[in-house]
Amino acid sequence: MGKGSGYGKVILFGEHFVVHGVPGIVSAIDSTTDAVVKKIGKGISVKDERKTAKGYSEEKRLQQLESIERMLKAMGIDPKTPLSIWIGGTLPGFSGLGASAASSVAIARAIAEELGMTMPDERINQAAYEAEKAYAGNPSGIDNTAATYGGLMWFQKNMSGGPDFVERLHTPQPVEIVIGSTGKVANTKAMVEGVAERKRKNPQKYDPLFKRAGEIAIEGRKTLEAGDLKKVGALMNENHTLLQEIEVSSRELDLLVGIARKQGAFGAKLTGGGGGGCMVALTPGRQLQEKVAKAIEQQGFEVLRTMIGVQKL
Ligand code: PMV
Repeated sequence: MGKGSGYGKVILFGEHFVVHGVPGIVSAIDSTTDAVVKKIGKGISVKDERKTAKGYSEEKRLQQLESIERMLKAMGIDPKTPLSIWIGGTLPGFSGLGASAASSVAIARAIAEELGMTMPDERINQAAYEAEKAYAGNPSGIDNTAATYGGLMWFQKNMSGGPDFVERLHTPQPVEIVIGSTGKVANTKAMVEGVAERKRKNPQKYDPLFKRAGEIAIEGRKTLEAGDLKKVGALMNENHTLLQEIEVSSRELDLLVGIARKQGAFGAKLTGGGGGGCMVALTPGRQLQEKVAKAIEQQGFEVLRTMIGVQKL
């Protein structure tokens, strides 16, 4: 029996823009997807016992099978190898939290262990990146990197195909956040393709937005490292406006972002692919975190209370 885990994540700055080489900032969260793999049965079977948004598993089923095929290829494993895969863990299957990447990392680690293969994190990350193509089409690699290594990270995709630019970041102390789920399952691949197409068709509108997204990531890094959370929050708000402009927000995301800001969150934005999925609010201190979380829950939405900048992750 082989076992493995992968972290969930929130993107604090730069989702979608990172696909095109703009830097972004991502933090792993203290929830994981776990996998157990046994070399038994016939072909590949998956038992998915994650807590998910309604319809998540059904919507992602085909992409999940394709992702496992891609992963086996990347790991140099015979696709006919019988593999019975169980997936569970504390990370909910909500769109936007890197659940697909976390599951790919967990499965890759569990398969490697079950087949007695020694796989350093770098190879697990690369296998998960290949698997992510099934879910995101042309992924940046930010999700699988966070799922593999954990922590708070600066990420910039290497557009020439070489290793990405990844740096570990540190905040003076961990900071509370609230993640709110719209409950809507989103198709990351369609969202990523939509942005690429609109960018191609309308560079006059899109180029300045992409330039500003890069500046926001740089300022976001400085202010996070300095612990200037008011400024971090303001930059998150501005990042959300850019995401609205590239048409990846939704009515529900804007609603949750509005509730969080009204309750005093330092900043709030959608996180991940958008079009549904999740938002993240910066809520330093347990009291503020609780206030924002409760207000979102009162409107009938699910939340996760967690932290960024935790050293052990
Ligand atoms: O929605 P998620 O958790 O799959 O995050 C997608 C993040 C994007 O920037 C939209 C895509 C990517 O590969 O970076």
